[in-house]
Amino acid sequence: MLWMLAILACGGQETTNDTAKQDTGTNDACDTGFAVTWDNWAHGFLTTYCLSCHSENTDDRHDAPEGVDFDTEEMVDQWKAPIYNAAITQETMPIGGGVYEEDLILFESYLRCVLGHEGGGINNDTDDDSGMD
Ligand code: HEC
Repeated sequence: MLWMLAILACGGQETTNDTAKQDTGTNDACDTGFAVTWDNWAHGFLTTYCLSCHSENTDDRHDAPEGVDFDTEEMVDQWKAPIYNAAITQETMPIGGGVYEEDLILFESYLRCVLGHEGGGINNDTDDDSGMD
């Protein structure tokens, strides 16, 4: 906890950036200050939160539907509309929740700005053939 004291001690200025971050989704989701990619972030996020159930290589799917797997960026791209709906809009995935707000913001940014999902709309994505709608 010493680092906190150090920050407090030499701060002195209000950090205006922190409040901007709280504003989820309504503004430009691409402007998070961190340009997410599959390699620098999304793969790790999915490994942490999703692949224990949604992977071709998992030992126990915990009843996650067959074929709903997110091992590669192509697979995630295929499922981006239901993923957006489940993880961002409804927050029903991952089961049990527990995703940090910052991670949700970055995940939305990834789905919208990297994979080009039209954010906000549920089952709006007519250019995928995932068969989920
Ligand atoms: C503990 C296991 C588990 C984890 C972890 C998990 N899921 Fe699921 N997922 C399921 C199960 C079980 C279903 C089927 C039942 C349901 O849809 O609620 C499912 C269904 C889905 C579906 C199908 C559409 C839907 O909403 O029914 C999507 C998309 C999905 N999950 C995305 C994700 C994403 C994205 C993550 C990580 C952020 C994730 N899941 C993490 C177990 C899991």
